[in-house]
Amino acid sequence: MGKRVLIASDHGGFELKRALIEHLRILDYEVVDLGTEGPASVDYPDFAGKLCKAILAGDAERGILICGTGIGMSITANKFKGIYAALCTNEFMARMARNDNDSNVLCLGGRVLGGEVAKGIVEVWLNTSFGGGRHARRTGKIRAIEKEGAAE
Ligand code: RB5
Repeated sequence: MGKRVLIASDHGGFELKRALIEHLRILDYEVVDLGTEGPASVDYPDFAGKLCKAILAGDAERGILICGTGIGMSITANKFKGIYAALCTNEFMARMARNDNDSNVLCLGGRVLGGEVAKGIVEVWLNTSFGGGRHARRTGKIRAIEKEGAAE
């Protein structure tokens, strides 16, 4: 399942989504496009919900969500228990979002990033493993907060 990735966007992320799908397929990823299917205005929570539910159902381990800024997608995605969504604007953040945070969803801003910058972010994010160790202690605390609904 390692080379399978889900992707979804609203209209603000539609063009970048197209470019990333093409790029990832060239890199031999199995990319599942969950919409939106054109530039018409849609609501980003609908697409974040679709992708997050598919990840939680085991359809793939990782997903990419794109809206105009990436903010609406990340806010929505992080409402789902078991989804750890990271909004990244550069490769350093993408590396940390995997090594330190073990994120399973990457959020990008289609109106923020150039296509080549976004491709670099996606590649780093997909190719970086979770660091474990002290980072696992910290992500464990996130999971505990998620379970209890409150921090100590
Ligand atoms: C849609 O205009 C825009 O609000 C959306 O793409 C996203 O940027 C929301 O966070």
